[in-house]
Formats: sequence, C-alpha cells, structure tokens
Amino acid sequence: MQNPTLDSIFGRRSIRKYTDQPVEPEKLDLLLQAAMAAPSAMNCKPWEFVLVTEPEKLAQFRSRLIFGNRNAPAAIVVCGNPRLSTNPAARLFWVADCSAATENILVAAVSLGLATVWVGVHPVGDFVRVVRDIVGLPRYVTPLSLIYVGYALEVKQPRTQFDAARVHWQQYKKGKG
Ligand SMILES: Cc1cc2nc3c(=O)[nH]c(=O)nc-3n(C[C@H](O)[C@H](O)[C@H](O)COP(=O)(O)O)c2cc1C
Repeated sequence: MQNPTLDSIFGRRSIRKYTDQPVEPEKLDLLLQAAMAAPSAMNCKPWEFVLVTEPEKLAQFRSRLIFGNRNAPAAIVVCGNPRLSTNPAARLFWVADCSAATENILVAAVSLGLATVWVGVHPVGDFVRVVRDIVGLPRYVTPLSLIYVGYALEVKQPRTQFDAARVHWQQYKKGKG
C-alpha cells in the first residue's frame, strides 16, 4: 500500500553525516510550521525554537556537545518556556509537548528530502548549560533537543522496529523484562 505519511515515519533515521548543501529557508520555515502543528497539553504550546545556521555557532555545538559532533549546515533548538503555559497543570507536560514538536520536525524533514538527527539536551544539566550559553537562552527557557538538519551523506534504510512482544491486548501480561 502506498502511504507517504508512513513512508516518512519509517524512513526517518538518525543521519550523522551531511553534505555542504545549505537548507533552503522555505524548507526551514515548513519544518517550523510542522513543529507548531504538534499537539500540546491544553494546547498551551510551551515551545520556542532557535534556528541556527551561523557556522561559528554550529562549530560551538560540535565542539562543546560530546554527542553532538555532526556537520549539518543548520540546527533547530527546541525549547520549553513555562511562561507560555497559561495553565499550571499543563506546565507539567512541557517535555511531552516539546518532544511532539521535535518528532514532527523529524518526520516533516523526510517528506522534504532532508535528513536530521535528534541530539538530546534536557535533562542533562551540562548539555542544557552549553546550549543556553551558545544561543543566549534565559534561565527559565530550557532546551529539550537540538535537531541537526541538512542533506544526507550516508544512506540508512527505512525500518519499523515493530516488536509484537511489546504489544498487549486488553490486559498487560508480564514478560521477561
Ligand atoms: C531523546 C533522544 C536523544 C538522542 N540523543 C542523541 C545524541 O545526543 N546524539 C546522536 O547522535 N543521536 C541521538 N539520538 C538519536 C538516537 O541515537 C537514535 O534515534 C537511535 O539510535 C535509533 O536510530 P534511528 O533514529 O536511526 O531510528 C537521540 C534520540 C532521542 C530520542
């Protein structure tokens, strides 16, 4: 069955080697539109995004984040800002909200012929401090993820990772785990 949405979901892989080709501004804009289409608790949308294409800043990410040494020409920092959540109960869900926005960017990127990798930032205090410093975030704004974006220099096959043992129907049955 042809299904472009599922193709993008299964085709999304973490790409860690990129060409020098810059990402078109219209595509970056579409990625941010996809991000902000994500669901969020009580629709509070506690997210903000920092788009980074300056080579000096990208070089700082590469040298200062031990798991973030990737040569992409662009990066999007997905941030949670509790001051944007009008509802205190919804504020508890900022990680879920910003994760949904992050995943939307990754899947939308595939549909635009782009490659990405999600670099985890929060909840590792050192990574949070480094990203805050590089892009100038105030203390109340927390970077959840840094997404590198570019054109792939490596090929990875689509896959589902489906595992029937992880699925329980009606009632949870204890397994080996
Ligand atoms: C919360 C989170 C943090 C991650 N952090 C990193 C990271 O710091 N560096 C990196 O290269 N990949 C990172 N990844 C990507 C994972 O390593 C990758 O998703 C996983 O190995 C599965 O491969 P796939 O994305 O190709 O399906 C992260 C993924 C998630 C969801």
